[in-house]
Amino acid sequence: MRRPFIAGNWKMNLNRSGAVALAAAIAERSKGLEGVDLAVFPPSIYLDAVRGAVAGSILAYGAQNIYHQSNGAFTGEISTAMLVDLGCRYVILGHSERRHILGETNEEVNKKVLAALAASLVPIVCVGESLSDREVGRTGQVIRKQVAGSLANLSAEQIAHVVIAYEPVWAIGTGKVATPQQAEEVHKDLRKILTDRYNTAIAEAIRIQYGGSVKASNAAELLAQPNVDGALVGGASLKADEFLGIVAGLNHK
Ligand code: PGA
Repeated sequence: MRRPFIAGNWKMNLNRSGAVALAAAIAERSKGLEGVDLAVFPPSIYLDAVRGAVAGSILAYGAQNIYHQSNGAFTGEISTAMLVDLGCRYVILGHSERRHILGETNEEVNKKVLAALAASLVPIVCVGESLSDREVGRTGQVIRKQVAGSLANLSAEQIAHVVIAYEPVWAIGTGKVATPQQAEEVHKDLRKILTDRYNTAIAEAIRIQYGGSVKASNAAELLAQPNVDGALVGGASLKADEFLGIVAGLNHK
């Protein structure tokens, strides 16, 4: 059984006190929850403050990006060692906003994935097709290419530590959620890609989150799909009620 994983990507939102209050509220209200991994991803500048707010709870935290080099003259960048120093367990990599707005390539994502794994951070690696890709039937092809590029050169042992997030670009922040069937179809395809690249046992063990307009009211249906192992949540993760409502959707799994 894959352990469900619900992650909240706060993106470039909140201020210090807002981030602390939200983290503290989620940490407090998730007390006693079992059988699920929960994590929030505040702006990096608030990670240390969030660390204090969630101490002693089940709520983990991580960053929304890293640079692949460990230290040196890379103005403005943050390394894996710095995240480890702050007690981070996870890092989101290859988010569609980084790919499409900041121009990140599969090759860059791959370097970051290898750097994260080398530092024992768990990378959540995002893949997903654009609306035009979907409309011309290229979803499978795009996903395959992103997996091949972003997850290149990973041994079986390394891939076992990776979490994949399927985030159709047309569903992110748009209120347009993939239907449970659309999500399941791509998740199943991802598992097939992993089986072909590794083997069935490895493919069956890797967690694949769905992301894109997930909220409390649509989470249960999505999470009920056999190959949907959790959610990567943007907008709805900025409200404790919504985020915990999504977690409650796991009760139907
Ligand atoms: P959204 O964002 O839930 O606001 O659509 C998801 C994501 O970007 O991870």
